[in-house]
Amino acid sequence: MSPFLLTRTLPEDATDADLRADVLHGLTRTPKVLPPKWFYDARGSELFEEITRLPEYYPTRAEREILAARAGEIAAATGARTLVELGSGSSEKTRFLLDALTDLHTYVPVDVSESALMGAAKALLAQRPELDVHALISDFTRGLALPGTPGPRLVAFLGGTIGNLLPAERAVFLKSVRDLLSPGDSLLLGTDLVKDEEVLVRAYDDTAGVTAQFNKNVLAVIARELGADVDPADFDHVAVWDRENEWIEMRLRARSALSVKIRALDLVVPFEAGEELRTEVSAKFRQAGVRSELAAAGMELTHWWTDEAGRFALSLSTAS
Ligand SMILES: C[S@@+](CC[C@H](N)C(=O)[O-])C[C@H]1O[C@@H](n2cnc3c(N)ncnc32)[C@H](O)[C@@H]1O
Repeated sequence: MSPFLLTRTLPEDATDADLRADVLHGLTRTPKVLPPKWFYDARGSELFEEITRLPEYYPTRAEREILAARAGEIAAATGARTLVELGSGSSEKTRFLLDALTDLHTYVPVDVSESALMGAAKALLAQRPELDVHALISDFTRGLALPGTPGPRLVAFLGGTIGNLLPAERAVFLKSVRDLLSPGDSLLLGTDLVKDEEVLVRAYDDTAGVTAQFNKNVLAVIARELGADVDPADFDHVAVWDRENEWIEMRLRARSALSVKIRALDLVVPFEAGEELRTEVSAKFRQAGVRSELAAAGMELTHWWTDEAGRFALSLSTAS
């Protein structure tokens, strides 16, 4: 058996305190917002995996295509002995990297979702018994304390998850990633690219309604964790393309005027009929923008690969 360690850098009660703070702040302002990390309880993580298999959701297939074609080049360019993966989820696409990185010693998956980490670790331990796996239950926006593992390190942030951060949050986050990189270390970043509006909107509003269930799952999390009397059926799932900001917004729209009582916060949140709560932003990128955001954080883009259809990009960068 390979060594497996699970470390929680979030205190047991941090999730509760963070959720309370985010709900209080986000539902008492106009327009109402919630951060997307609250989708990912066990059910939300399962629903996300279902989304990745939907015909409309191209990002996972496109990124997998790039990884399958380029994992050897990534391994040769980085020579990584430690692979750190932020927001690793099921670690399904990561297999291409794990297979190609022949000198790999330790894999450090990092996620807020304990159920996703445990599921991924179980599958990996069966398939890669020689690998050290040090899973971290941690919020990657809160500064990361990584275990001391052999370098060079490759920090991977796949799935286009970086697009869930707003531009100012991205700048702070990328600087924190830069601070993790020693000379010889690299960042592998997955970014979804700007494309036809119809293709983008369909990816976030599938005909089977799985993304709608995923979006409404945040209401189930609030109901369970904070004692909110909210019925997901009172809200419609909405996905819109913001042309100016070049991002998709997922929202929940109240079907009628209603109030949500949140017992744990002693709060009543009124919604007008048609009022929307923003639950996720998913920014889409262009190469020049990625390059300049990385440069602003002190990193230099050295490689840029896309899938054949040019829908998604993987970039490799080092500290500049
Ligand atoms: C869009 S999914 C991508 C999963 C996987 N990397 C992929 O490419 O399929 C985002 C993942 O990041 C995790 N996540 C979201 N916000 C996070 C945060 N602030 N800190 C740590 N993990 C986070 C979620 O639990 C989820 O597993």
